Amino acid sequence: MAQILPVSDPITLRNAVEALGRGEPVAVPTETVYGLAADATNPAAITAIYEAKGRPRFNPLICHMSDMDMARAHVLFTPLAERLAAAFWPGPLTLVLPLNPDGKIHELATAGLETAAVRIPEGFARTLIKSFGGPLAAPSANRSGRISPTSARHVADDLGDRVNLVLDDGPCRVGLESTILAVNGDELTLLRPGGVPVDAIETAVGVAVDRPGLDVQTKVVAPGMLTSHYAPQTSLRLNATGALEGEAILRFGGEPFDREDKALFVLDLSPSGDLREAAANLFSMLKQADASAATGIAVAPVPHHGLGEAINDRLNRAAAPRD
Ligand code: TXA
Ligand code: MG
Repeated sequence: MAQILPVSDPITLRNAVEALGRGEPVAVPTETVYGLAADATNPAAITAIYEAKGRPRFNPLICHMSDMDMARAHVLFTPLAERLAAAFWPGPLTLVLPLNPDGKIHELATAGLETAAVRIPEGFARTLIKSFGGPLAAPSANRSGRISPTSARHVADDLGDRVNLVLDDGPCRVGLESTILAVNGDELTLLRPGGVPVDAIETAVGVAVDRPGLDVQTKVVAPGMLTSHYAPQTSLRLNATGALEGEAILRFGGEPFDREDKALFVLDLSPSGDLREAAANLFSMLKQADASAATGIAVAPVPHHGLGEAINDRLNRAAAPRD
């Protein structure tokens, strides 16, 4: 079973850096979700991530940097990309940028593309990358197709028999994966809504963000955006206002459901209707409902503005039919 080490313990950083140096993946807290991190320049280490997750190898990984100097050594920044980085890093924004020909990111991490997805994370993850001295490739630390983990316990439950080391920094601040933005010259394309709302990006840099249709995203642009991606075992009913017998209810904004007495239990993504709180609670509440004896999960409508776009994206994926 995996060893869970608190990041507050001084020994944790050293153990993690040593494990990464041996090419082992380590589960690391970030402000978005827990990631399964490994040396982005080492093909054996990247292969170990794909194996632990059971993830298809055509699905490229996000490479995490400690600072702009490290990022510039591996990808090429346009002036617009520089402005985005200055506005949102460290933080939950991932930029897809052309590879620097002198960079060392291994092609297994980019799935052979000529671009890489990069971000500078907040907190302990950033300290770890700095101590390690190079970029860490890290997808979310869950088995492929499952809900992303927002606590060390989630990681241990899902991957405990497949990774040696899980670092614990409590629940993730944001709770949803990063927003992914492709930067082509002056053009910005949304590949995945996430922890930075699109309107915040548009306001910060004064450039409109293109939102291609879902088909384009799934087929060409971000190969990881398979429709049924955030999948609980229990089926999901979205935009629900009334309870069915034995369901788990996920309210929003304190609004009660009709026939709530029929429900197995009731949770509220945010009793005060705060989208940030709802984002931070989403995955852990879905997991809690999924692990229960509920016959289904009924979720209230969530407003679509700000972080609501990313919340509704994850809910739609979780509710999508799968084989
Ligand atoms: O918040 C996050 O982004 C978390 C934490 C750990 O940083 N990471 C995460 O990684 O969600 P992952 O691997 O689960 O999602 C990465 C997404 C995938 O959908 C992948 O297809 C896309 O990024 N991606 C990676 N490289 C790409 C590239 N060069 N072009 C287009 N999409 C890319
Ligand atoms: Mg993921």
